[in-house]
Amino acid sequence: MKEWGSFDTITKGKGVWLIDSKGNKLLDGVASMWCNVWGHSNPELVKAITNQSKKLQHAPLFNLTNEPAEKLADNLVKISPGMHKVFYSDNGSTAMEIAIKLALQYWKNIGDEKKTEIATLKNGYHGDTFGAMSVGFVPEFFGKFKKQLFSTIQFSVPNKYRIPKGFTFLDYQNHCLENIEKRFTKNSNIAAFVMESGAQVAGGVMIYPKGFQKKISNLCKKYNILFVLDEIATGFGRLGSMVQYDEQKSIPDIVAFGKMLTGGYLTMAATLTNKKIYDSYLGEFNDWKHLFHGHTYTGNPIAAAVANENLKMYKKNNLIKKIQKTSKIFEKFYQEISEIDIVGDIRHKGMLMGIELVTSKKKKTPIHPKKSINKIFFEEGKKNGIYLRTLGNIVMLVPPLAISEKELDFLLNRTIKTIKAAKSKLVNC
Ligand SMILES: Cc1ncc(COP(=O)(O)O)c(C=O)c1O
Repeated sequence: MKEWGSFDTITKGKGVWLIDSKGNKLLDGVASMWCNVWGHSNPELVKAITNQSKKLQHAPLFNLTNEPAEKLADNLVKISPGMHKVFYSDNGSTAMEIAIKLALQYWKNIGDEKKTEIATLKNGYHGDTFGAMSVGFVPEFFGKFKKQLFSTIQFSVPNKYRIPKGFTFLDYQNHCLENIEKRFTKNSNIAAFVMESGAQVAGGVMIYPKGFQKKISNLCKKYNILFVLDEIATGFGRLGSMVQYDEQKSIPDIVAFGKMLTGGYLTMAATLTNKKIYDSYLGEFNDWKHLFHGHTYTGNPIAAAVANENLKMYKKNNLIKKIQKTSKIFEKFYQEISEIDIVGDIRHKGMLMGIELVTSKKKKTPIHPKKSINKIFFEEGKKNGIYLRTLGNIVMLVPPLAISEKELDFLLNRTIKTIKAAKSKLVNC
């Protein structure tokens, strides 16, 4: 932390650009923490916020409701196959806390006291609160709290770049799935399987092989385990489809959305459940089947109004189609990026790319300098007019979803320059 000294102050945002107090312009290469959709200061989204803020700024969603939140719930259920009801919160971590609680309490609501364990994938990330940390586990982030986290059953994700000796990639996928099934057959206490949908993002941009997620969802059905998906970073078009589980043909029991829900303008998240889960909470008052969970800003009308406008714009602008076309620009740069001698692997899907840096292409040793890779990339990126953040040894490219082809071309060209410039600094420290 000490290495940063002070931070630049961002005073304005316009389109894909962030502008600091000295007038420097940086292309927002991480969509302001993976949530920006239309760029900054979009007039339609700003108007939705100002219009709603003149009518009702906040009112409780306890015993009451409000129009924008009701409308948003309808909109979310419409785009999410198999889902029935929505539970609001203010950020992705809380949406996942709710998902975990809903899944655990479901079994109690239907009178099964034994199902209390949670299965997950290794290296998942679901947020920074204790429940979310427990169901994920990126060692660098959470290691210091390991003792305080509740235990989960963790399974490997097949990583094409690091296939264990003696396996083909397909063998390894099957091996991972067999391990899951073996455990399921022996343990009838598993309440839920929690995983990111489509890819693990913070855990190193691990894009699942085709069919992997679907097979896990089928195993969950076969062994009577709830299937809980986290689409906070991967839904809403990030991986090229509106709802990633739809593309993966794996309808969950519970799913969480966040980040891009409001276009990246206000803080809001949503946890959706199917009818089976919802109905289990409908007991009489004295049955105590209610979910005791609520946040102050749950269902905030301004956040809901901007989320509704955001969804309207997805449709009006055919955003998913546009993303599918624009994201092809990434492919144009595969060759040039992979030729850089510290680049070990490129992982890309839709509007997400992870570039893994290694000290040796042959040994695939992750680059691990004494100095902060993140700071080196931030500084070199800034010289090149782009805002970049790395996660460990992975350079993350997560641009605003509506970025133009020309702007994405610029981001990729400048990223290549940045990696080349950072190289000497990374190798010499
Ligand atoms: C997959 C996933 N789930 C949950 C979260 C937590 O969201 P938030 O930072 O809004 O709490 C994140 C954040 O990056 C995420 O990537």
